Amino acid sequence: MITPDTIERIMDATRIEEVIGEFVTLKKRGVNLIGLCPFHNEKTPSFNVSASKGIYKCFGCGKGGNVVSFLMEHEHYTYPEALRFLAKKYNIEIEEERPTPEQQEAMDEKESLFNLSAFAQKYFEQQLHESEEGKSVGLTYLKERGFSTEVIRKFGIGYCPNKWDEFSQTALKQGYKKDYLLKASLSKSKDHMLYDTFRGRVIFPIHNLSGRVLGFGARIMTSEKNRPKYINSAESEIYHKSKALYGVFFAKSPMASHDNCYLVEGYTDVIALHQAGIHNVIATSGTALTTDQIKLIRRYTSNVTLLFDGDPAGVKAAFRGVDMILEEGLNVRIVLFPDAEDPDSYARKNRPAVVREFIEKQAKDFISLKTGLLLDETRNDPIKKAQLIKEIARTIALIPEPIARTIYVQKCSEMMQVEEKLMVAEVNRLRRQKHQRQKQTTVQEQPPPPPGPDHVYQQEKHAGAENNDSQEKELIRLLLHYAGHEMVFELENEDRRIEEVKVMVVEFIIQDILTDKLVFDNAQCQGIFDAYTEKWEEKALPGNTFFTEHEDPLIRQLAIDLLANQHTLSKNWEHRHRIYVTGEEEDLKPRVLYAVYGFKLKKLEKMISETQRQIRDAAAENPPDESLLLELMEKSRDLLSRRRLFAAELNRVVTK
Ligand code: UTP
Ligand code: MN
Repeated sequence: MITPDTIERIMDATRIEEVIGEFVTLKKRGVNLIGLCPFHNEKTPSFNVSASKGIYKCFGCGKGGNVVSFLMEHEHYTYPEALRFLAKKYNIEIEEERPTPEQQEAMDEKESLFNLSAFAQKYFEQQLHESEEGKSVGLTYLKERGFSTEVIRKFGIGYCPNKWDEFSQTALKQGYKKDYLLKASLSKSKDHMLYDTFRGRVIFPIHNLSGRVLGFGARIMTSEKNRPKYINSAESEIYHKSKALYGVFFAKSPMASHDNCYLVEGYTDVIALHQAGIHNVIATSGTALTTDQIKLIRRYTSNVTLLFDGDPAGVKAAFRGVDMILEEGLNVRIVLFPDAEDPDSYARKNRPAVVREFIEKQAKDFISLKTGLLLDETRNDPIKKAQLIKEIARTIALIPEPIARTIYVQKCSEMMQVEEKLMVAEVNRLRRQKHQRQKQTTVQEQPPPPPGPDHVYQQEKHAGAENNDSQEKELIRLLLHYAGHEMVFELENEDRRIEEVKVMVVEFIIQDILTDKLVFDNAQCQGIFDAYTEKWEEKALPGNTFFTEHEDPLIRQLAIDLLANQHTLSKNWEHRHRIYVTGEEEDLKPRVLYAVYGFKLKKLEKMISETQRQIRDAAAENPPDESLLLELMEKSRDLLSRRRLFAAELNRVVTK
């Protein structure tokens, strides 16, 4: 392990422009350097490198990051490899840290399990291809299923002899420890004797991202009803079911290059589709889809196509998957196979070209699928139709991105022939409910604004560059660029003398927003804000690379975009409000005030219209709840006077 100290020295010595300059011809342009982007084809340069911020960003293809991510992306280095490259370039001696005994033990266990799994995989594979039993039982079965030798080799499929403990004994003789054989669920113990867990089964190794074997799935060769068809490795230090995806090692670059990923149910589906020439395919194998798995997919693509068999169980599983995927902000389409076929059986019966065409033609978005499946039933039944619309609205309400939501709302109202207004209202109602529930479970004393009332949704939809999102981003942009800068305020002290007080940008923004318990609509903005708040409690600031190397790719992207776009975001803003400045830094204070008050004003307005809606609702009740009405009206008055206050302050900032 490279010590944190060494990493720091490497990063201190590194000049991003020198490193990227080795691969890209860079020219000076203003404070930045510019060149032809190495990640996409272009004739006019849009690839920017900022030496002062240590980041690069291509305004053509959107790729961006820091020096390490450049090397990882461009040279396909791993993280430690990129560090070693830089250390060599800048003559920095690498200190490797000896891990603590506990770390060592955990590492030893992991490493031992990896080694043992690799050994087992080789053993099983050899048995399949070379032993008599392996050939006559396992290989014959796989061939009968239609798998080619090529694909059997590619996936490292194997066979475990149907003898009590042959594998376990071989492993022990090779020096593998009993403890690890048990932990890797390769062996089981009975009366102090070991026996082979997977005996008499064909073995599908499960690989991690870098191609190391984590665990196994094993299929029975007989048709005994009282024994399970598949046995899978149990959870271990290296195998976490909820995080593993079968086939991901082989699918990762096809997923990125096709910008799509096919998600199927099992081992055999993945292999059969591979054989049909579809390589961007992975499976959850045996478990329901998890958010960790979706996050793993998102590293490579944000488009998922679910392939399920068309029986009721398959449809149900597909819809559950749809909701989860949409909620993580990815796009999803679905292919249902006819007559209880699964991708594997369909691929066995049809030529590869037919399979590929079928999948491409059949892929539907979830609204078309749901309406298609249920339309006959609902056509003449208004109650069922209303239920279906509600059901679709529930799914749409899960989508985090307002534009995507709008598109789906339009599509659904068109297909179901309902007024778009009604759909919008229903989706907003559900989102409000969800937010309220979330707040109740997370914060006791809740921050006030539930997400906007209907007209806000409409506003988002029609908004130009100046929607709520860009306002939130402007605030975060100021934090990222100027958190540590000071603003000077003039305050009158007790002797009525004017005193200058210095306040850091970060402190001002955090305090102002926390005091009013405001939350961001944009999850990434909130994430960055939270990180500042957390650090600031220790009177520290997140370092330069805290966000540009953040583990959440969406936060990383936003931070890089905001760091790269010094002015563009606020151009409209400046123009509209007739603020023209030469350099932001000289005029920082009004900008920060403007951003904070503007943000608050928007939030207040949302709260005001929400309260007014509640008043209308309460007044429409028969009989109306008088005390609730009074309470709401009081709240509304309070909000309105706060708005006046802010509007005045905002005005002062602008006209000053
Ligand atoms: P199938 O039941 O279709 O398995 O399950 P199969 O091997 O293709 O069997 P036949 O030949 O159609 O009867 C499909 C996938 O579901 C997973 C496996 O990944 C399998 O490839 N599965 C199935 C399990 O993980 N455990 C099980 O018990 C059954
Ligand atoms: Mn099957």
